[in-house]
Amino acid sequence: MDAIVFLNEQFEHIFGRLPEKMGFAPGRVNLIGEHTDYHGGHVFPCALTLGTWGAAARRQDKLVQFYSVNRSDAGIVVRRLGFVPDPRRRSWADYPLSMMCSLAEHGFPCESGVDLLLYGDLPVGAGLSSSASVEVLTGVLLRALFGFDGLSDEDLAKYAQYAENRFIGVNCGIMDQFSSALCKRNHAMLLDTLTLQRQYAPLRLEDADIIVTNSGVKHSLASSAYNRRRQECEAALRALSEQSPLSALCALTPEEWEMRKDAVTDPVCQKRARHAVYENQRTLDAFSALEEGDLRAFGALMNASHRSLRDDYEVSCPELDLLTQLAWEIEGVYGSRMTGGGFGGCTVSIVRRDARKSFTETIGKVFREKVGRDPLFYVVGPGAGAHLI
Ligand code: GLA
Repeated sequence: MDAIVFLNEQFEHIFGRLPEKMGFAPGRVNLIGEHTDYHGGHVFPCALTLGTWGAAARRQDKLVQFYSVNRSDAGIVVRRLGFVPDPRRRSWADYPLSMMCSLAEHGFPCESGVDLLLYGDLPVGAGLSSSASVEVLTGVLLRALFGFDGLSDEDLAKYAQYAENRFIGVNCGIMDQFSSALCKRNHAMLLDTLTLQRQYAPLRLEDADIIVTNSGVKHSLASSAYNRRRQECEAALRALSEQSPLSALCALTPEEWEMRKDAVTDPVCQKRARHAVYENQRTLDAFSALEEGDLRAFGALMNASHRSLRDDYEVSCPELDLLTQLAWEIEGVYGSRMTGGGFGGCTVSIVRRDARKSFTETIGKVFREKVGRDPLFYVVGPGAGAHLI
């Protein structure tokens, strides 16, 4: 069914009137540049055509009412305007609510209450940024409802990241929110997370597709592992800075790192930092490879990225390693790697179209035998960033 018709119907059914504004914000898949966005490095994501759809209308009073079609079991969640989510008592509505709080803190408070209805077609907890898409979409809808002057898409991305850090308690980087707000259809976005400068590269994959494979292992970013990686890398940066000042790990080229790495005496911190430095270089090389239309080189960099995430950064898991290992062995697969925060979630693979069938059949069969369930495959097209519909 058409999204506009669906949103209108649902909104009227739940709130008894029609919405004023409707919008969409996508999830993302990161092609390469993993765990670099909090080290001042580069990332290279594209938006998906899957994401979160939403409809909203202002209220006369100071209540905010949230309804998720996906979480109809939770009913309408009602809060007072200004309510601050408590990270210890989680509700799905904390995601839109934390974006509201973040906007208010940054000088864009809602003047009245709001009714907000959301519907998402992204798998949750699969590392495809469903939470960033909810936060960014909330921002897009509130900006349209209240006419927040001067609030740019870039601001929305930053305030959504703030919402996640401050109110959800996940110390994530800027990639997910930036991708959801600022990616362009048919393009991947090379984002320098130090300067926030971005370059768009047309995704000319010719005879190939991007296939996202969901391991079905739910990752939990809030789990201490993500924050612990940050701390280990901060320790490495401190050790390097004592030697001579350094703004961020990814400010080092691999050559500079090799000359200075002995300053990091803890072997675990050294591995983590090595991943950040080399992954940043791989991302820049992958951008050039794509510009030259060299999918083989691009794929080889993806494979190297996975090995580094598995061995040095240690954020993979057996199911993701199995999916990539199987993919690497299939003729016609350019490259395959885990994508997103890790510890579960998805892999991303560039697969020649004539190999698609053997990809899904072979991987499906072995995964089923070894893990006991089917992996899910999504052939994804690079979609547009958040927008009103
Ligand atoms: C999660 C975070 C991002 C980024 C990735 C890893 O998706 O939200 O900021 O750090 O993990 O690249």
